[in-house]
Amino acid sequence: MATSTRKPVALVTGGGSGIGRATAVRFAELGYSCVVADIDEQSAKETLGMLQTPGIAVQVDITIATSVEAMVTAAVQRFGRIDCAFNGAGILGASARIVESPEDAFDRVMDVNAKGVWLCLKYEIAQMLQQEPVVSDPARWADKPDVCRFRGVRGSIVNASSLAGLLPSTWLSPYGASKWAVLGITKTAAVEYASEGIRVNAVCPGLTATPMRDQLVEQSPPDFQDRVDPKSYPAGRLAAPEEVAEAVTWLCSDACPFTTGEHLKISGGL
Ligand SMILES: NC(=O)c1ccc[n+]([C@@H]2O[C@H](COP(=O)([O-])OP(=O)(O)OC[C@H]3O[C@@H](n4cnc5c(N)ncnc54)[C@H](O)[C@@H]3O)[C@@H](O)[C@H]2O)c1
Repeated sequence: MATSTRKPVALVTGGGSGIGRATAVRFAELGYSCVVADIDEQSAKETLGMLQTPGIAVQVDITIATSVEAMVTAAVQRFGRIDCAFNGAGILGASARIVESPEDAFDRVMDVNAKGVWLCLKYEIAQMLQQEPVVSDPARWADKPDVCRFRGVRGSIVNASSLAGLLPSTWLSPYGASKWAVLGITKTAAVEYASEGIRVNAVCPGLTATPMRDQLVEQSPPDFQDRVDPKSYPAGRLAAPEEVAEAVTWLCSDACPFTTGEHLKISGGL
């Protein structure tokens, strides 16, 4: 077991835009070193430029195993370990009802959003299993030898699901299917690795003000527009990406060491 005062390390996929970018910025504000990964390397570099912390930008395609493995290797070569990961990269796909949806659209969305998260977990967890558990604040937990903080944490991962992973996603069936899948993968990974000091949780944001939400508005048919209207939320507005980032970094942190296999809805009351 190790106790440490070194900077913890966070890896963020989809770090070049929207929620991923806001999460990398928040991790950096909290003192983490950051690995900003995205298929769009330029956008990852732009995010890196916003951080006042050690970091690297990595080009990754999360649908390709060798690319994901290389991302994890790059992170470990630079920083030695990965304490936290946010698997945020995702795509929306086209809006259409099932009958009108092309088969390859289903495959592509599932490939990125479901298989991509699974591949990230596969290589992130493999790395975390090799890491020494880190014990935070051992003196505080000395008389409670069984609590997680005393036994130490190897790593903590948060996956991006969606409100679309909890509710029907009319006009977005591949997207909805992929986000339900993310919850299944999250809960399975959590159970498989709980006893080894690795936590896996998910966030389920509602509509969040990012380029993906802009795309949804642009491509939605007229009779779907009510559903993308911020007024359809009890809070009467969209989430800011920073509000999702706050939840992600909290779930990743050792503020909640016994929380695993959970999904946190961030949806203004919906
Ligand atoms: N914006 C919303 O309303 C909303 C709501 C719920 C859930 N989400 C989820 O949150 C996550 C982030 O969404 P966002 O709104 O910030 O989207 P975004 O489009 O702003 O960012 C997504 C990022 O993922 C990257 N990406 C796409 N395919 C990739 C691949 N194959 N490999 C690596 N990177 C890839 C993109 O380049 C982009 O930078 C997604 O998983 C999304 O499904 C978004």
